[in-house]
Amino acid sequence: MSADYTQKSKEITEILLVWYHKNKRVFPFRGTRDPYRVWLSEIMLQQTRTETAGPYYERFLERFPDVFALARASEEEVLKAWEGLGYYTRARNLHKTAKLVAGMGGIFPDTAEGLQALPGIGPYAAAAVASIAFDEPVPAMDGNLNRVISRLYRVSEDAGSPKGKKILRELGFSLMPRTGAGDMNQALMDLGATICLPGTPECAACPLSALCDANLLDDPVNFPVLKAKPQPKQVPVAVVIAHHGGKVLLQKRREALLRGLYVFVLNEGDDSETGALSALSKLHLTAQNIKQVSSARHVFTHRVWQMRIYLAEVSEPRITDDLVLTDEKALSALPLPTAMGKARELAMAFLRGEMDIRGL
Ligand code: ADE
Repeated sequence: MSADYTQKSKEITEILLVWYHKNKRVFPFRGTRDPYRVWLSEIMLQQTRTETAGPYYERFLERFPDVFALARASEEEVLKAWEGLGYYTRARNLHKTAKLVAGMGGIFPDTAEGLQALPGIGPYAAAAVASIAFDEPVPAMDGNLNRVISRLYRVSEDAGSPKGKKILRELGFSLMPRTGAGDMNQALMDLGATICLPGTPECAACPLSALCDANLLDDPVNFPVLKAKPQPKQVPVAVVIAHHGGKVLLQKRREALLRGLYVFVLNEGDDSETGALSALSKLHLTAQNIKQVSSARHVFTHRVWQMRIYLAEVSEPRITDDLVLTDEKALSALPLPTAMGKARELAMAFLRGEMDIRGL
């Protein structure tokens, strides 16, 4: 990275904004500067692909058209609308922030700093919303911006380290126009998503190829420099579709991971039949019969669930606030995490009488 990058940054900004106006991708969440909509979309887009987020965004807005509607909803309704998107802390924080903003008359803070004080809004989302909705010249440093910028200036510092992040952010600031920062951020995102790709950058099609240090030295794939992260922990999990009287038992999670969502009876740490029976006995349940019917895997940020799925006919459960016996309709109305997808399909088949349980 050369010491004086200001002039180069200016040229990049000019060229990229022209490129963006011709080539920008069309999404349902674009074309608005309404802070509620921009905030909602940026929270969704943080861990969800643009194509996936689009339909969710539209459905969510139909259900909760403004911040007051979202603030009035119950947490369970919000989680239900979020179902399938994962990272449910986002939905819980979305709800908390909606209540706070509704309490402030529905007015969002109009700076990145102010936005970042709200639950679930980190530096990325704060910058994205402040730039798109309020035209504040702050870079929204996501994976795309880090990759594009690290290549343009051949940043050799580890992009995951505090020092590397600081350098990249400073370069990001140098790329922000005085007005139109929202467009510039989204131009960098679009370039990163369509041309400056992680494994196979298409430098021949890139409007910035003549200004890109990594392209000029022919090594774009070496950027960003990232130190290897520790692998997520593999956790064996027994998932028990426990049924009684033709209904299936679900439990509301109290643990930090997936809190507020409904899951089948689980033993995190032991996927064996003994593990399954021990999870049942913690709920004072005994199994008349139990059989493994399937398996599944789900990757969270820091751990991977390796699941064995069991079907068990159990003694009558003592129903509490956190335990529900569900029929087909009740099961489809509850918010379940994606990790329970396979078990839910099997439970639905069971409730519809489509699962052959003879011999179980
Ligand atoms: N990813 C996150 N926010 C985005 C946006 N506004 N446009 C395109 N991709 C995005």
